[in-house]
Amino acid sequence: MTRRRKIYEGKAKILYEGPEPGTIIQYFKDDATAFNAQKKGTINGKGVINNRISEHVFTRLAHIGIPTHFIRRLNMREQLVKQVEIVPIEVIVRNVAAGTLSKRLGIEEGTPLPHTLLEYCYKDDSLGDPLIAEEHIACFGWATQEEMQDISSMAIRVNDFMSGMFAGIGIRLVDFKLEFGRFFDGDFARIILADEISPDGCRLWDIETNEKLDKDRFRRDLGGEVEAYQEVARRLGLLPDEGSSEIMDLDAHRAKKSK
Ligand code: TYD
Repeated sequence: MTRRRKIYEGKAKILYEGPEPGTIIQYFKDDATAFNAQKKGTINGKGVINNRISEHVFTRLAHIGIPTHFIRRLNMREQLVKQVEIVPIEVIVRNVAAGTLSKRLGIEEGTPLPHTLLEYCYKDDSLGDPLIAEEHIACFGWATQEEMQDISSMAIRVNDFMSGMFAGIGIRLVDFKLEFGRFFDGDFARIILADEISPDGCRLWDIETNEKLDKDRFRRDLGGEVEAYQEVARRLGLLPDEGSSEIMDLDAHRAKKSK
């Protein structure tokens, strides 16, 4: 195997130069971090599950016309994506109060919000990704007014689609984080959805029991992280029923199914 050039190593993923210009390979690690990387650990097999869940969600979003960076999954831990210039903003979409919103404003976790709330954080680890207003984005030129239009309308469409998708499998989509990038087509830059969508960046609660099926299991030392991530994948139809031991063998399962 030829050695690929590593472009960047983040908390949960490594980015390598892709096989063609303008492409990147995203490698999904098992590493987990929380609270601005003050808490570190590993969740065995998380990278494999997140790679698969993110592939599924991005593919379905593409079907409803959301432009994304996803090209194809390459193997258990890697996917090929379009190279973009990341907009330095994390978009948080909230349907139900939880996490920092609950802490900041004293709203009990689990309180449904009167309408979907969009929040923005400035992507800078050294500053702890601070919450910002749209005025900061315009003031410091992190994105143009038109780009923010595209970003906010896409975020709402993604939320509508994902809320329905998860409700259909008995999961409440409480909140989640999105990242966007600029894809250059000649001189013209277009906003597309980037990064990943997985239980690392979503709050997913069982509709019946409110059981947490996301990274809060790690953040809050609840245990059962692997099982929770697998349960999400299983309900999405990405794992054989009850097939926790087969998580490392998804490709074999797919091949079997398509016969
Ligand atoms: P939030 O409640 O703001 O922060 P925390 O996860 O630290 O309690 O998070 C809202 C949602 O967005 C949650 O599902 C986690 C996700 N998120 C990330 O994935 N990365 C981030 O840097 C932030 C701020 C949130």
